[in-house]
Amino acid sequence: MNTTTTPGRGTDDDGAAPAGLGPDAGGAGVIPGAGPAAPGPGERATLRLRDRGAGDARPRYAPEWLELREGADAAARSDELLDPLRARPAGGLVVHDLGCGTGSMGRWLAPRLAGAQHWILHDRDPFLLHFAAAASPRSAADGSRVTVETRRGDVARLTPHALAGASLVTASALLDVLTREEAGALAAACAGAGCPALLTLSVTGRVGLAPRHPLDAEITEAFNAHQRRTGLLGPDAVTAACEAFAGHGATVHVRPSPWRLGPGDAGLTAQWLRGWVGAAVEQRPELAAPAAAYLAARLEACAAGELRVTVHHSDLLAHPAGGTS
Ligand SMILES: C[S@@+](CC[C@H](N)C(=O)[O-])C[C@H]1O[C@@H](n2cnc3c(N)ncnc32)[C@H](O)[C@@H]1O
Repeated sequence: MNTTTTPGRGTDDDGAAPAGLGPDAGGAGVIPGAGPAAPGPGERATLRLRDRGAGDARPRYAPEWLELREGADAAARSDELLDPLRARPAGGLVVHDLGCGTGSMGRWLAPRLAGAQHWILHDRDPFLLHFAAAASPRSAADGSRVTVETRRGDVARLTPHALAGASLVTASALLDVLTREEAGALAAACAGAGCPALLTLSVTGRVGLAPRHPLDAEITEAFNAHQRRTGLLGPDAVTAACEAFAGHGATVHVRPSPWRLGPGDAGLTAQWLRGWVGAAVEQRPELAAPAAAYLAARLEACAAGELRVTVHHSDLLAHPAGGTS
């Protein structure tokens, strides 16, 4: 069942009551691309394992982590790619946001586009969909009404039919946690629906830290290998998506969208560092001792306001064959 909500009134598409924001409900793991593996003393986890039957341990993203990164994400996304999307269709825009999490893409984009908008928020996690509906965007750039509905499901299985009538498909921080096949299916669905796709904030695998440290490159490499190890695209996401969209005749534009984290972002930087180093060690356990010292030094510099981190991402805009580019 899909649910249309009015702003500020959260509903859940499967009627499930949202879980509380209490302490970690399950085991620990590593979110591909971000976040700590396990909470430190007094901290909440960045992900929870789903409270479901055995055999299904897909990561569940903690809303706290998505909230922590929302400001940096908003600052990073490429405004330039929005120019071709500013045309205002007579009947209003229908936007499908895939892997919406708590809905940060809508909160960023809806107020940047003029005209009435209806957002259809997709995620496999009903808990996050609840938050997305509750904090949905309210009005467009010109004050027009924005409405929202949520759909629970696997975005890798979307069909062109599910996207019928779409003016735009969006996603943020999604592509790099898909497999090549899933990204291909998504591109096929967008191509079949004949609408543009704005897919933002895919990691590129490049990270810059200042000051530098001799272990930076090794941690980066191990982290990137970790991202790819279960067949997820990780740093290959944008290349794979470009190929997939181009295979359907789409015109693809890519722009950089780096996080630039400085002393004002200490909370996010520290959390990101723990996840980044944690994943690297999970990939290469022999790094455990030097990585622990590395992490301690990096966290100390971060707390002292002496660390700057650039986490490189890319945004991608794909125009369907025959569309405006
Ligand atoms: C890194 S989070 C990004 C959330 C949100 N777009 C944002 O930028 O804050 C990835 C999201 O994609 C969802 N997701 C990942 N794979 C999915 C799939 N195959 N089908 C549906 N949702 C998926 C996760 O549940 C999570 O909410």
